[in-house]
Amino acid sequence: MNKANAIYLRMPPLIYGKIPFMPKTIQALFLAAEADPFIKVGGLGDVAGTLPRELRALSNDDLKIDVRLVLPYHSALKAEDLRPLEPFTVRCGGADVVVEAFETSLQGMPVYLIGGEPIRASGSVYSLDAKADSEKYAFFSLAAIELPKHIHWRPQIIHANDWHTALSLYVNLTRRWESGEQTAGILTLHNMPFMGADSREILERCGLPIAQTDLPEWARTLPLPLGIWSADKVVAVSPGYAAEILTEEFGCGLNEFMTQHQESLSGILNGIDTVSFDPAVDKALSVNYDAERLDLRVENKELLQEKLGLARDPNIPLFGVVSRMDPQKGVDLAFTALKNMKRIDFQAVILGSGDPKLEESARELQALFPEKIKVILRYDANLARQIYAGADMLLMPSRYEPCGLSQMIAMRYGCVPIVRAVGGLKDTVIPEETGFVFEKAHFMSLVSAIKSALKILPDRERWQTLQRNGMTKDFSWQTSAQEYLDLYQSLTATE
Ligand code: GLC
Repeated sequence: MNKANAIYLRMPPLIYGKIPFMPKTIQALFLAAEADPFIKVGGLGDVAGTLPRELRALSNDDLKIDVRLVLPYHSALKAEDLRPLEPFTVRCGGADVVVEAFETSLQGMPVYLIGGEPIRASGSVYSLDAKADSEKYAFFSLAAIELPKHIHWRPQIIHANDWHTALSLYVNLTRRWESGEQTAGILTLHNMPFMGADSREILERCGLPIAQTDLPEWARTLPLPLGIWSADKVVAVSPGYAAEILTEEFGCGLNEFMTQHQESLSGILNGIDTVSFDPAVDKALSVNYDAERLDLRVENKELLQEKLGLARDPNIPLFGVVSRMDPQKGVDLAFTALKNMKRIDFQAVILGSGDPKLEESARELQALFPEKIKVILRYDANLARQIYAGADMLLMPSRYEPCGLSQMIAMRYGCVPIVRAVGGLKDTVIPEETGFVFEKAHFMSLVSAIKSALKILPDRERWQTLQRNGMTKDFSWQTSAQEYLDLYQSLTATE
């Protein structure tokens, strides 16, 4: 090809007399109660901190994806370079309440923080006062829906997450009835049993109509069911969980309703931040390694044993539990299983905080086996990484698990997960290929899965194959973000 026709080929369409091609834009407002690195309490924070950016990263010459994040300005939230927006008001609690909004950014993504008295009045992200939380998040949801007008930007999609922001979809729907505006609504379900408190009064005081819905009567004024009812699409955080919530066991009383509306329900597996969670470069580790240099991993195990005050011995099996202390996570099953493994030589480290009763049982367990079991009752991101890099196995016997992130991080670090066959755990761990899976939520089932794993552990080659299988699985956000994008596109298609 000579230079002349090379230039000709690169000419924009304008030379044919057409208007230059303008990329299509998808604009979506992503609402969450928490998002890493601003504020994080649990898995929702990981997802909301990553997914919106991953969606934006899918932009190309033909399609611009402009997803923006909006969060409550919790008192514990950390943010820099805040730019205040002009204050505005929303009708809430029978009065006009002032919204103090700020704009900042996260790696190029605009992020809005919604402040105001109802948010300031509550000291924490989630409290034990369900009613107060519902008031706070109703205010947040209303303010977030009004925000776009004040920044002269119009989303085609409102993407809400869990009960906290679900009412935004209901508000959006009422706006659709009033103005005919066609903003679509998506709700991602991270944890179905948490539905928020009865909000009839709140809705009335905010001047919102109470809709005639086909929801079961008890659910008609709860934020999560209302959000599900209002959403154009509902996404569970794994295909397994999407199927489970249609059943009585996991559907929290909405299974029949969900079954009737199945056509708008899908499951999209969460990813993990594979750049941050990478044993080859993770700064929290003393020794970095990867699937090709797996022999180096043992140094992390020995350092961890030393740090915890356990006997430094590469041959003693070391179990890790990295979890919120919550009945959902089945940590009590793990404690009972460990208590009942008296004749087995092992060590265990338990990290996490939460339910005081479970914290107490963890302390008791350590008191029973001080030489074998170490309990650290706090959230510690660095120690968690050292456990993923040092422990041989991760125990995750969840009673239900919409997705679960720890098992994916563990696999990426060569820590073999032993999980219950529920929700996202079942979708991500392949029995005897990347981990061990058991069915019943009973400690004996966990013990037998542990025993199967312990039979293989001494066979270095077989064990390393299990580790490598997990380490080389693709748990990145790319595939999931693409599935969300397909959903966005299906909702914004104009032709
Ligand atoms: C909730 C779920 C967990 C999921 C996370 C992120 O914390 O319990 O399974 O991984 O949300 O979606």
